[in-house]
Amino acid sequence: MLTALGCSRLVVNLDWLLWRVVVEWALMSHPVIDQVYAGADAPRGDFVFDERVAPVFSDMIARSVPGWSELVRLIGLIGARLAQPGARIYDLGCSLGATSASILARLPETAGTDADAIQLYAVDRAPAMLDELRLRLAPEIARGRLQPICADLLDLTIADACLVVMNLTLQFIPPAHRLPLLQRIRRGLRPGGALILAEKVAIADEDDLLTQLHADFKTAQGYSQLEIARKRAALEQVLIPDSPAAQLARLREAGFTRILPFFQCLSFVGWIAR
Ligand SMILES: C[S@@+](CC[C@H](N)C(=O)[O-])C[C@H]1O[C@@H](n2cnc3c(N)ncnc32)[C@H](O)[C@@H]1O
Repeated sequence: MLTALGCSRLVVNLDWLLWRVVVEWALMSHPVIDQVYAGADAPRGDFVFDERVAPVFSDMIARSVPGWSELVRLIGLIGARLAQPGARIYDLGCSLGATSASILARLPETAGTDADAIQLYAVDRAPAMLDELRLRLAPEIARGRLQPICADLLDLTIADACLVVMNLTLQFIPPAHRLPLLQRIRRGLRPGGALILAEKVAIADEDDLLTQLHADFKTAQGYSQLEIARKRAALEQVLIPDSPAAQLARLREAGFTRILPFFQCLSFVGWIAR
């Protein structure tokens, strides 16, 4: 016979299970193996989020970023805690919508027309990534909870936000534009609103141990040395990491006064900035 405690555990577990299913699906649906940099037809030049990358991106990011699933799940929890009724959430550089899905799965069920409904704007400038997001998150879009926007973040108006998320996106913004973008985000937040920022950071250490460990992580995920080297070269000019100290200084300069680290896995770090 189920006791009251047993019942409540069952409900909690079902809630957790449902969330896991939703998030795992968004993280891993269409689990096409990433072989973009494996063959003779590997792209040359700078890395782009195009038609070759979009279908394999879920696999690529999970096998390239240590702690990725946990990072996405944590952002869902943080989003639910900081969400405010009737406010907006922006997922900037949303890619296929894994982070958006994690947040939506934790938000109360309101229709897009309710006054208390939270509108989530998923923004990316890469049409191929957003096409894939539209397929994966069609039910949320149809229910009016998620609005995909194909736009450059540098042209986007951000207003009335309780939460802005940049999960591994700021690192792709040209350095000169980073502070002005953070300042605009800060101005677009409601009182009590927050920015969740996760970035690959440049941590100086004598023997570059974290860089070596990151390569070891990718090797353990099945990438060949050639794939790792090709992708590293492709990202060199487009993914420009800052040091943690530079990130913190810039967040403060942008007007954030309370900055909490919530995640670190090798050189991937996340902060909640308010
Ligand atoms: C590493 S992915 C981010 C992963 C994503 N946040 C997630 O949760 O799965 C970086 C994304 O940022 C987008 N991006 C880079 N620069 C951008 C810009 N200036 N405006 C809009 N999107 C941008 C890219 O198209 C790409 O989809």
